[in-house]
Amino acid sequence: MSRPVASRADNPLRDPRDRRLPRIPDPCALVVFGVTGDLATKKLLPAVYDLASRGLLPPGFALFGFARRDWDTRDFKRFARNAVIAHARTEFSEDVWSRLADCLCFTSGSFDDDDAFDEMAKTLDELETVHGTRGNAAFYLAVPPDAFPPVLRQLQRTKLCDTTPLGGWRRVVVEKPFGHDLKSARELNTLVDDVFTGHDVFRIDHYLGKETVQNLLALRFANTLFEPLWNAHYVDSVQITMAEDVGIESRAGFYDATGAARDVLQNHLLQLLALCAMEEPVSFDAESLRIEKRKVLNAISLPSDHERYAVRGQYLQGWLAGRRVPGYLAEPDVPSNSTTETYAAVRLGVETRRWAGVPFYLRAGKRLPRRVTEIAVVFKRAPHLPFAATDTVELGQNQLVIRVQPDEGVTLRFGSKVPGPSVEVREVSMDFLYGEAFTESSPEAYERLVLDVLLGDKTLFPDREEVEASWEVIDPLEEFWSGRPPHTYRAGEWGPIAANTMVERDGRVWRRP
Ligand code: BG6
Repeated sequence: MSRPVASRADNPLRDPRDRRLPRIPDPCALVVFGVTGDLATKKLLPAVYDLASRGLLPPGFALFGFARRDWDTRDFKRFARNAVIAHARTEFSEDVWSRLADCLCFTSGSFDDDDAFDEMAKTLDELETVHGTRGNAAFYLAVPPDAFPPVLRQLQRTKLCDTTPLGGWRRVVVEKPFGHDLKSARELNTLVDDVFTGHDVFRIDHYLGKETVQNLLALRFANTLFEPLWNAHYVDSVQITMAEDVGIESRAGFYDATGAARDVLQNHLLQLLALCAMEEPVSFDAESLRIEKRKVLNAISLPSDHERYAVRGQYLQGWLAGRRVPGYLAEPDVPSNSTTETYAAVRLGVETRRWAGVPFYLRAGKRLPRRVTEIAVVFKRAPHLPFAATDTVELGQNQLVIRVQPDEGVTLRFGSKVPGPSVEVREVSMDFLYGEAFTESSPEAYERLVLDVLLGDKTLFPDREEVEASWEVIDPLEEFWSGRPPHTYRAGEWGPIAANTMVERDGRVWRRP
């Protein structure tokens, strides 16, 4: 019989560096601002439930919702239950739910409502006694960016941001987008750092919570096979693709003010690039990882010719999965003259000895033919082929493709002789699929990241410098694009023609994922 999970943390025989066993956070409260929004409904509440069903929440736990709706805790419980049934990864169990439901409470109020925050502070104090949360609390800002400052100021005014006299910790979780450009990101960073101390600030980039993204580090640094080839001597180029078949859904207000480059290039794609290009960290602790990522982000060079190597596009109406879908300008609440991009592609360089001359092509778009995120490392051709040219007509460049989602896994593409008396080399694939290799299914990114916040583990969270270095890459692109209409592409196509021309100009083509 296995021992109760809670006692493992206290086991004196356990090596604290052994990360195979589950870690259980301290007793604590998780306060979610904007708890009725899309993010909380689809991701956060289900993630908390999934943690509960895996036995990973501490015995003293409370989930505190804060939102404008005129609700009491009973209404909130009903809402949370529906969210969990609709979106949780693990199977719904009445037993798990009823234990979690006992830990839920709600305060109704707006962000400029002092009384509501005072009331919340009082309830958090009470939770210490009722739920044994020991004064520990994490505040999750699942709110639009313009609500960050008022919420942070309220946390400061009520002193909720301060460590309690008995040592209870206080943490804050800030969702992306972290600022709108370098200047606003710096201002926001200054504000957050004024309210919370640096190590208590968790900036979320949910891509870092994905198993496949973490596996990139294992793939590179736990094996001998790939690292010797992982440099400009062998790598021809790297393509990072984040394609979505969905449009902007019901997020016109946010999306039209943001666009693809700020929405996902500035964060998810640059983080993938950093993990792919960084040197081996001295260890896998948060600071060592961030040091290496930061070096890459600071070494990124922009194309000297933006006109040719930075392309943005907007989708027109088209057909996707047999359905006619509207163009971006016809989406509800999008201004009919909007020039916001729903697609962005750029060629970047990484100015280090390892990567000199290797282009990193990044692209992200909505309403593309299918949902797929992948990193394709494309290798150079063999310097000499002792075959007749006709033997290798069907041999492409070797590729290592890390499939972030869906069909999570890794594919190696290389040439193989076609069986038979003739000599013909054709491209084949060797596949690793998570679903086949492992019996356990991967946790959702938010499940992992919420747990890490409660554990105080910052390994998977970008820091202030990373965020700012990423804006330094995006700002000049935005400046170049501003005032120029985006290219167009039909929904269901792989982006604008100009994006194809961009790689063809370099003698390459985009991979068809
Ligand atoms: C979010 C973006 O960060 O990531 C969305 O704001 C995008 O526009 C989403 O749809 C995609 O996330 P995932 O995990 O489904 O790839």
